[in-house]
Amino acid sequence: MTSTLKNKIQQFYDASSGLWEQIWGEHMHHGYYGPTGKEKKNRRQAQIDLIEELLNWAEVRQASHILDVGCGIGGSSLYLAQKFDANSIGITLSPVQASRGTERAQDAGLVTQVQFRVADAMEMPFADNSFDLVWSMESGEHMPDKQKFLTECYRVLKPGGTFLMATWCHRPITKATGQLTEDELHHLAEIYRVYCLPYVISLPDYEAIAHHLSFHNIRTADWSDAVAPFWDSVIDSAFEPKAIIGLFGSSWDTIQAALSLGLMSRGYRRGLIRFGLLSATK
Ligand SMILES: C[S@@+](CC[C@H](N)C(=O)[O-])C[C@H]1O[C@@H](n2cnc3c(N)ncnc32)[C@H](O)[C@@H]1O
Repeated sequence: MTSTLKNKIQQFYDASSGLWEQIWGEHMHHGYYGPTGKEKKNRRQAQIDLIEELLNWAEVRQASHILDVGCGIGGSSLYLAQKFDANSIGITLSPVQASRGTERAQDAGLVTQVQFRVADAMEMPFADNSFDLVWSMESGEHMPDKQKFLTECYRVLKPGGTFLMATWCHRPITKATGQLTEDELHHLAEIYRVYCLPYVISLPDYEAIAHHLSFHNIRTADWSDAVAPFWDSVIDSAFEPKAIIGLFGSSWDTIQAALSLGLMSRGYRRGLIRFGLLSATK
């Protein structure tokens, strides 16, 4: 992984995670608003519902050793450890996130069960066949080599274990829809710049990689409709006084990300951005 991208991602999350937690709480991912996105609910509940709906969709009923790849401040790591009475390890590029995750595990009385480390998902510091659930919630879009990323997830997964990923994608490229247009590429480039992404791929592209790696029971789904309302809710919250005050003291990257929230909602509206799910077993 190039150190420039790694540094940018690290700095982005080091600088913005505190404000995000203050406004949004511990989960740094979309919310689930029902299959068609029409359900009205509290934003934190929507984020928890996304975790539950994903587990349900992938039929994950138990886990004992969980890896949370790209863990943020440990929202999923702690939630899953508590839900399954499991051990979990969260990895992130951001030292600020890793230490906040550790603090949160201490506060929850879960330090022996839940750990956080600064580590690169492209070269994970874990032995082969270590985890029975490898969970990646909205981190795949940051990975500079999607094939290598899935190869690492496959490597550390125990035989019979489940890989479950939710990630930002672009629309599939089919004969009917054609290649991405200049305008779509420009729109994507803006999203990449603001949110520190090298590039995204389509869900069928991820599926092809998973097949190539000999994953079994591969399933995919597009949940764009279910999660798209999330961005309108983020935009509303950005006008709350505590968000505006918080942004005054923030880095330019954080301010830019806040000012560019409309990029994602427009991306969903035009069908360019897709919220892709992939589950598979080893
Ligand atoms: C949008 S946040 C998602 C956080 C978390 N999964 C959640 O749902 O709250 C993306 C996370 O991916 C992590 N990340 C990005 N690239 C990574 C890499 N190469 N290795 C490890 N973590 C990475 C970031 O540090 C950040 O924690």
